[in-house]
Parts: sequence; structure tokens; C-alpha cells
Amino acid sequence: MAEATYKFLCRETDYNIVLLSSGSEYINKRKQDAVYTFDIREKKTLDFILEDERPDIVVNAAAMTDVDGCEVNKKMAMEMNAILPESLALFSNKYKYHLITFSTDYIFDGKKGPYLEDVLPNPLSYYGKSKLAGENAVRIEASKNSTIIRTNVVYGNSSYNKTDFIRWVIDALKEEKQLKIIDGQWCNPTLADDIAKGVFKIIEKKRKGIYNFAGRGYYNRYQIAILIAEIFGFDKKLITKIPSSALKQKAVRPEKGGLINLKAETSLGMKFSDLETGIINLKHQLSKDSK
Ligand SMILES: NC(=O)c1ccc[n+]([C@@H]2O[C@H](COP(=O)([O-])OP(=O)(O)OC[C@H]3O[C@@H](n4cnc5c(N)ncnc54)[C@H](OP(=O)(O)O)[C@@H]3O)[C@@H](O)[C@H]2O)c1
Repeated sequence: MAEATYKFLCRETDYNIVLLSSGSEYINKRKQDAVYTFDIREKKTLDFILEDERPDIVVNAAAMTDVDGCEVNKKMAMEMNAILPESLALFSNKYKYHLITFSTDYIFDGKKGPYLEDVLPNPLSYYGKSKLAGENAVRIEASKNSTIIRTNVVYGNSSYNKTDFIRWVIDALKEEKQLKIIDGQWCNPTLADDIAKGVFKIIEKKRKGIYNFAGRGYYNRYQIAILIAEIFGFDKKLITKIPSSALKQKAVRPEKGGLINLKAETSLGMKFSDLETGIINLKHQLSKDSK
């Protein structure tokens, strides 16, 4: 998400951009942009950088996103997903910037998805709990100068072949691996490039509050895998449908998750890609990259 947003802002704006990185040299950055490499949990370093750079906007895409890992390393989950957004919210009052931070549909229990922005959360997993704690901290500390963007099942091209659910299915089917895919965990897969465009609109329109960013359509994981096979011309017989209960994941996921993007579409003028268009675009990008 960070890469898609950075690329979009480089292409479409004349913003000066400062990147904060954990040290991985993923992003091919422009010469004029500064990079600070450090563990973003180091609050003093963060304070020092913010004081020096005085940004107008801070986009926080850093998080612990390994959902099963969060069940094991709860301390790290809390530090990245709750304490970091809280620190950025507190600093936004000190340095007067607009904070934009990401959250997830995993703050909901998946009994009645897809969800609007104002539904009461009830997370099932530690990842969901830590992200909700982050949301709450941002809303308490910086309600007037912050935006929370909730999204789900993000996919897209990346310079370092980041694995997401869609990419994982593509790579496995390409290698003719047999896949057992659940007919649950309903969601609205969301193109990273659409999120990047939405971030830009949030910045330009100075919008605060909570926004759902979600692709068009509502799918279970099996339907997504079949659509991928159809678009890429892979053998659909490699995919076997299994019930969600057969998948033994450490963290419990929402069965009917997903988000309703009505607010973003009507009040921001966003038009999110449907999954078919998104996968076709991804196919073109991947084939261009392999040449
Ligand atoms: N991807 C999805 O499907 C999805 C769905 C819903 C919500 N979201 C939310 O969207 C946001 C972005 O997600 P994403 O998929 O882009 O996540 P991601 O690919 O896992 O990226 C998270 C970033 O955080 C960085 N990071 C982690 N620990 C760090 C530390 N201690 N210091 C500095 N940087 C650190 C990581 O750097 P390294 O890679 O170098 O460790 C990585 O660049 C997150 O808030 C996530 O919760 C994502």
C-alpha cells in the first residue's frame, strides 16, 4: 500500500515526500525524496524526524499485518497497530499535520458483513483487536485532524512481488499446484492503486473521519480463485472448494467481512474497480514486468 501510494503521489502531484522505512530497500525512490531508516516504534526518533521535517500530512501504512503472527506476538501487534497510531495522533496535535492511517474489516465479527462505517466493531482476532485499539486512540487523540481508512483484501502489483491472497493464488495455479480454497471469508478485494487514488482525494479534500475503501462486488475466497483461473486461463480443476471450518488458521477471521464503500463513492467521488477489471489490469502489469 505504501508503494502504490508513493508511486501515485509522485506521478500525480508535486508534493515533497519523506519516506520512513524499516530498512528494506523496496521502493525505488526519487532522488529528491528523503528516506529515514529506523524502527518506527522508536518514539524519540519519530519525534525528532517530525520536528525536523514538519510535514503537512502523515500517511501511516506501517503495521503488523501478519494476522496469525499477531496471535503469537501480541506485544509487537500492540506496538505497531495501536501504540504507533496513538503516537502519530499525539504528534499531529504537536506538529499540526493531517494524519491518515489504515484500518481493517477485521475489527468486525463477520456475522453481518459487509459493513458501513458506523457499525459497532467486535474483533475476533488479536490483529483486529490491536487495529481497533489503534483506531480508538486516533479518534480520541486527534478526531479533528485525522482520517482512518478501512480496507480489506488488498491486491496489486509491487516491485518486490509482495504476496497477497490474489497473488498467492496466481503463483500457485501458474505452477499447477492443487489448491483447497474455502467458500467463506467473504470480502471485497481492493486494488492498491484505487486506495492510493483515494488517499490523494482525502488529502486534497481535507477529509477527516472514517472512510471505507473497498472494491466493487462481494466474493468468497473460492469465487475469487475461480475468477483468477478464468482470467489467466489456468486449469480450474486445480481448485477444490472446502468449508471455512476445514481451514485451521490460528486467528479467527470474519466469515462475512467486507466493507460498504458508499461514503467514499458518493462523498469523495471514488470509483473502485470491480474484481474482474482489477485482475485483468494486474495480469497486464505482470506480463509487462516479465518482459
Ligand atoms: N493488505 C491488506 O489486505 C490489508 C487489509 C486491511 C487493512 N490493511 C491495513 O493497511 C495498512 C497497510 O497494509 P499493507 O498490506 O501495505 O501492509 P504490509 O505490506 O505488511 O506493510 C506494512 C509495512 O510496515 C512496515 N513495518 C512493520 N514493522 C515496522 C517497524 N517496526 N518499523 C518500521 N516499519 C515497519 C513494514 O516494513 P517491512 O516490510 O520492511 O517489515 C511494511 O513496509 C495496514 O495498516 C494494514 O493493517 C491491509
